[in-house]
Amino acid sequence: MARYLITGIGGFIGSSLARSLLSRGEQVRGVDNFSTGRHENVAEIRTQIDFREADILDLDAMHDACRGVDYVLHQAAIPSVPKSVLDPLGSNQANVDGTVNVLIAARDAKVKRVVYAASSSAYGDTPTLPKHEEMTPNPISPYAVAKLASEHYMISFFRCYGLETVSLRYFNIFGPRQDPSSPYSGVLAKFITAMLRNEQPTIYGDGEQSRDFTYIDNAVEANLLACKAPAGEAAGKVFNVATGRRVTLIETFKMLQAITAYKGQPAYGPERSGDIKHSLADISKAARHLGYKPLVNFEEGLQRTVEWYRKAM
Ligand code: UD1
Repeated sequence: MARYLITGIGGFIGSSLARSLLSRGEQVRGVDNFSTGRHENVAEIRTQIDFREADILDLDAMHDACRGVDYVLHQAAIPSVPKSVLDPLGSNQANVDGTVNVLIAARDAKVKRVVYAASSSAYGDTPTLPKHEEMTPNPISPYAVAKLASEHYMISFFRCYGLETVSLRYFNIFGPRQDPSSPYSGVLAKFITAMLRNEQPTIYGDGEQSRDFTYIDNAVEANLLACKAPAGEAAGKVFNVATGRRVTLIETFKMLQAITAYKGQPAYGPERSGDIKHSLADISKAARHLGYKPLVNFEEGLQRTVEWYRKAM
């Protein structure tokens, strides 16, 4: 049995990681400041975890949190492109300064490995598809810049201090517990909850933009593999975590119509600043080094997610 620290355990991805680790008999400690995380996400597992309400910007709290920990899964962030465009300083503090704090604390506590929630947004709007890890990053939004800067810090801590770090570039992770309520929420959480309430979802832009939407179980699996892969395969490296297939927003809307029986049409709004047009991952590096392959495809993931919101709403 190993001890894991999850930063951002109140978030959709952090709380999913916690559930999965608990079901495998692992020990879970978690921190969250509930700036974007939610109490409801951890309420059910609250008694099974060592939970500390803390901000990753609080270095002392991070030192405490890392004590006796084997693996850190660093998920805490302000995860929004448009929010970062409005507040680049806040994005940088949470997404860069926070990461450096976590790394310092993990280094000092002699943690075995830190796995980081990096982002596909680092690639930006490069025309080349699929995106692979050897491409030169081209971040557009402050959020993307911050996520990329933290990736570099991950690599730096491996090179300078020998702390084993792995960055997982998530491609549009979705699934149960993703918060649909903020204007910055992920598109699938927003579309699904709107359509189940018989409300009209809004497409920003022409709806031809595409994403490699990735069901949460695939991201959880990638984190577990990233902890356990031999250091020679994983440490100091960056990996895409995705499915290797892209769908447009219009296609996605139609698939959701079939699942939810929503009869209306989407509304259209202006394209978002900082948005990118197409996103598709090459997942062969993660397959080669981590043994990663997607466990749940897009259709199945959509079905499961709609089922979950149906029950939760
Ligand atoms: C981006 C990042 C992703 C990051 C996420 C955090 C890329 C490729 N991905 O995702 O790594 O984790 O931000 O927020 O840059 N949309 C609508 N209607 C809505 C909401 C969104 O049409 O109600 C559109 C957006 O304009 C965008 C697409 O749906 O074109 C996906 O948006 P969203 O779910 O917010 O994620 P990304 O911005 O792609």
